[in-house]
Amino acid sequence: MRSSVILRPYETTWEDWLLGGGAGPSFEDPSLPLEVEIGCGDDDFLYECAVERPDRNWLGIEYSRKRVHRAIRRLERRGKPMPNLRWIWRPAGDLVGPFLTPGRVHAFHIYFPDPWPKAHHARYRLMTPEFVGSLRDALSADGRIDLATDSDDYVAEIREAFAEAGGLVPVDGAAPGEGGVAGDRPTVFEERWRAMGRSIHFLRFRKDA
Ligand SMILES: C[S@@+](CC[C@H](N)C(=O)[O-])C[C@H]1O[C@@H](n2cnc3c(N)ncnc32)[C@H](O)[C@@H]1O
Repeated sequence: MRSSVILRPYETTWEDWLLGGGAGPSFEDPSLPLEVEIGCGDDDFLYECAVERPDRNWLGIEYSRKRVHRAIRRLERRGKPMPNLRWIWRPAGDLVGPFLTPGRVHAFHIYFPDPWPKAHHARYRLMTPEFVGSLRDALSADGRIDLATDSDDYVAEIREAFAEAGGLVPVDGAAPGEGGVAGDRPTVFEERWRAMGRSIHFLRFRKDA
C-alpha cells in the first residue's frame, strides 16, 4: 500500500486537523461527547464502544499507520457505516495538547502503552508529566482516564507522572471490567500478557474537583 493512501471517511489526517481545527469536523455530529483511545493497536475496543454507544464520538490515535489501516479494513468488511468512529495516524503527543479543545474529552482510554523498559529508550515513553498534563487539560470536568499496563516499573512511573502533573485524582476501588480491563473481554495485549501469567495494573483518574 502506498503511504499516501488515505482511507476515507474513517481516517482523518494531520493535514485535516491543521486546516479544519482538529477531529470534530470529521465526525457526522461533532457535538456528541468525545472519547479517545490512544494506542489502539490491532484491538477492536474502539469499534465495539462506537457500536455500543452511538451517542458518543470515538477517536483512535495510533502511531502505526498499518494498524490504523487494518482497523479500518476490518470495519469496512463488517459493512456497518460508523459516523461516530474515526482514527488518526500520528503520535498522540502531537495532537492532544495542540489540538484537542480544552475541557471537551469525556474519557481517554490508554491500554498497554509501550513501556520501553530499557533506560536508553526512556525518551519514547508516552506517559510523561507533560503528556499527562495535556490529557488533564483536554478532559471535561467529569472526565476520566482509564489506563492499563502489565509493567510494574511503568505503573510506578505513570503514578508519579500523574502526581507531578497534578489536577487528577486516582479513583479508589476502580476495577477492570468483567472480562478484561476495557470491559467485556481482554484487549489483544491484555490477553497476551495474561496468557504469560503477568499481572495487570488498572488505573482510573478523574479531574480533581
Ligand atoms: C502494546 S500496544 C497496545 C495495543 C492495544 N491497546 C491493546 O491493548 O491490545 C501499544 C500501541 O500503542 C501505539 N503507540 C505507541 N506510542 C504511541 C504514541 N506516541 N501515540 C499513539 N500510539 C502509540 C503502538 O503503535 C501500539 O499499537
